[in-house]
Amino acid sequence: MTQHTHDRLLIIDFGSQVTQLIARRLRELNVYCEIHPFNTVDDAFLDAFAPKAIILSGGPASVVNADAPRPPSSVFERNVPVLGICYGQQLMMDMLGGKVEGGKISGGGGTAEFGRAYVTPAVEKSDLLMGWFATDREQVWMSHGDHVSAIAPGFEVLGTSPHAPFAITADQSRNFYAVQFHPEVHHTPNGLKFFENFIRIAGFSGDWTMNAYREEAIEKIRATVGDSHVICGLSGGVDSSVAAALIHEAVGDQLTCVFVDHGLLRKNEAEEVVTMFRDNMNLKVIYADERELFLGELEGQSDPETKRKIIGRLFIDVFQKYANQIDDAKFLAQGTLYPDVIESVSFSGGPSVTIKSHHNVGGLPEKMGLKLVEPLRELFKDEVRVLGRELGLPPSFIGRHPFPGPGLAIRCPGEITRAKLDILREADAVYIDQIRKHGLYDDIWQAFVAILPVRTVGVMGDGRTYDFACALRAVTSVDGMTADYYPFSHEFLGETATRIINEVPGINRVTYDITSKPPGTIEWE
Ligand code: XMP
Repeated sequence: MTQHTHDRLLIIDFGSQVTQLIARRLRELNVYCEIHPFNTVDDAFLDAFAPKAIILSGGPASVVNADAPRPPSSVFERNVPVLGICYGQQLMMDMLGGKVEGGKISGGGGTAEFGRAYVTPAVEKSDLLMGWFATDREQVWMSHGDHVSAIAPGFEVLGTSPHAPFAITADQSRNFYAVQFHPEVHHTPNGLKFFENFIRIAGFSGDWTMNAYREEAIEKIRATVGDSHVICGLSGGVDSSVAAALIHEAVGDQLTCVFVDHGLLRKNEAEEVVTMFRDNMNLKVIYADERELFLGELEGQSDPETKRKIIGRLFIDVFQKYANQIDDAKFLAQGTLYPDVIESVSFSGGPSVTIKSHHNVGGLPEKMGLKLVEPLRELFKDEVRVLGRELGLPPSFIGRHPFPGPGLAIRCPGEITRAKLDILREADAVYIDQIRKHGLYDDIWQAFVAILPVRTVGVMGDGRTYDFACALRAVTSVDGMTADYYPFSHEFLGETATRIINEVPGINRVTYDITSKPPGTIEWE
């Protein structure tokens, strides 16, 4: 069996929308875990992974069907604790000798359940539910069509809900636990405590800390890179900044960063990023001033995908040009995060529709004969921020809102002109200043101004104006996949509109975009 430095927990994914939340909860408890799709987990994998505990996720399938996805039966023979959640519970019961029935979703006395439910205890005391039931019932979140109709031999009921007589079940002698609800979601308020109990039962020591991760990552980078040189595309975003700072700590001057200024950055952005990394942190940073190249090629282009393609192509060319000037460059650093790496379970197998072709530097390493260094591959975004703080990056960098690779190009619908970009930069700076002054920056996931391709008539003083309209955008989100507009007060919006119109020549009308995603997207293009 493989030896690992940390206790490891394996989450077998059966395609639930919220599997990633299981991992996040466990990481909060300093437990190292990985998510793997059910169809990649076999006996050899289990031996190599050497899990100290296993969690079977929820999923959309029905164990009643013959072709339902299943884990190898050996997950129950490894002598490690197993927790089944929702579909995972049904699998456990089905595979260990219980019974599962298909639920009727509407009417007819079916037992499908979606949404909030309340569980009450069925036993006096249990290790799994320590700290639960401070009041006589505990709120949980249910989302299931099928239900368990008979529990497997050896199991007992620890908790029930009005529609789920087997809401919480356990075979405590074998350390098998199975719940019908989702302890990983926000709507199960005491879910973290539930996981804490499970990992305590499983004997985890909570040895996954960011400090330990940092030390190990540095050792790994040194061992991988040796005496060669690493290049890193630095955008000033959290991921590339933290990756650069970490690699610099590992190999010092063997790292060179390339900061590409495509002329589509925000006010003072290039200067702030280059000063911070070059002067304050002593990194080697090449400032690639390619504004003319990008803006020249974008002239006359108004289609969003064409803009993205031009920027993506030029970015690779430019990066390659500067990288070629660095002797002995054998590695390319990328700020890839864990959510980009997790393979998703696909039941339909069909390709998903491309809404926007987000550019990255994919394809570059092979073309240039470079190997990848991805020191953040095992981390979630919030963990990257913790690591950034450990590495001494200032809070203003760590807490930055995301900024898209194509920059202001996709916040300038229609044709891009230098004049419009200048107006946009000024308006955006006033807007962000307002947000910071009102102490709202950290409550908002992303905020920016888009300059609209419309001019409107206004009156200022005694004169007529005929200037651009702009839209303010501010959203709350967890991962950018879905989003809602931020509920600013009317007072804030009024004050901001007045400031933008007074301080930014070229804009005479301000609107606030209150579209959620879906059906909208966060950016305007
Ligand atoms: P959308 O507009 O798709 O944006 O709702 C979701 C998140 O992705 C960012 N975004 C991009 N990032 N290249 C990037 O690197 C792109 O082409 C791109 N388009 C959108 C957007 O800023 C938001 O954070």
